[in-house]
Amino acid sequence: MLKPNERCWCGSGLKYKRCHQAADEAKAFAAKAGSAPVRRTPQGKPWITPGHVSPGRAVPPEIPRPDYALTGKPRKRLFGRDDGRPLTEEQLVRMRRACHAAAQVLQATGREVKPGITTDELDAIAHRETIARGAYPSCLNYHGFPKSICTSVNEVICHGIPDDRPLEDGDIVNVDVTVYLDGMHGDCSATYAVGHISDAAQKLIDMTRACLDRGIRAVAPGRPISDIGRAIEELASSGHYGVVRAYCGHGIGESFHAGVYVPHFYDRNATAIMEPGMTFTIEPMITIGSWECGPQWANGWTEVTRDHDLTAQFEHTILVTEAGAEILTLP
Ligand code: MF3
Ligand code: CO
Ligand code: CO
Repeated sequence: MLKPNERCWCGSGLKYKRCHQAADEAKAFAAKAGSAPVRRTPQGKPWITPGHVSPGRAVPPEIPRPDYALTGKPRKRLFGRDDGRPLTEEQLVRMRRACHAAAQVLQATGREVKPGITTDELDAIAHRETIARGAYPSCLNYHGFPKSICTSVNEVICHGIPDDRPLEDGDIVNVDVTVYLDGMHGDCSATYAVGHISDAAQKLIDMTRACLDRGIRAVAPGRPISDIGRAIEELASSGHYGVVRAYCGHGIGESFHAGVYVPHFYDRNATAIMEPGMTFTIEPMITIGSWECGPQWANGWTEVTRDHDLTAQFEHTILVTEAGAEILTLP
């Protein structure tokens, strides 16, 4: 170690303190801290970074699987009955069972959210609850997704992969559960507070739940799908919140994602007319700051807000009725 007034090691002839001392100290500090300095969100929390992902969980052989369970690739169902068209009575009976099971699994998993639990442990709980109902966890191997549910923490917008990161007091986490039962998919999610959260985070969660409610109230037979996003966007903007545009609600039934596209902002191209018997999800992702997505994680799935500010999401699968909407994903 050189003293500040000694000549620098680099041969410049300058005193060490006037030359390389500061740079050497910064390097030593970074090496001690592990690597790059921690990047922080506008809320002052460290960015969420990818953790270790354990192998996908096994599904007992007797549980019926969707077509993609082995290959990862859903078969195109060009003439499927669920690609935007109303379900038959018989399909609706099965759809109700799948959606009810999804809601129960979500409830059972959400109850376990607390500081210290890892998202992989939440995955284990959801997986166990799903197969206990004779259902297949729809996310598992869907386009290669490695886990049974999605868990999206803080600035993660959606498609967080459960990993070994323990939830911390003050985090918020969206748990998104989809199950395949009786040949149908039911899809729902909710955002939970981990321990004590900031007022800003609580307000975001409340607003996001209100946006889902508002979207559901906009469902009416004979009206275009764009009514839903118009209503949601109006409410969110009134509170100066952002509405994510890259991900939308979707038709659902025999296929996980098929048929109608349900934007959560006003999109004049969403002209499909709602008809009694149609089933689709509404799943607004609402942000505190910018609604733009940052670069996707290298895992090919996880989306974060570009500004790393908080985002929340709630989701229900709904049925269009003569009177409006019926929420199918209730426990
Ligand atoms: N459940 C998500 C949705 O609401 C989709 C997750 S797909 C997965 O549409 F592959 F990421 F699991
Ligand atoms: Co969905
Ligand atoms: Co979902």
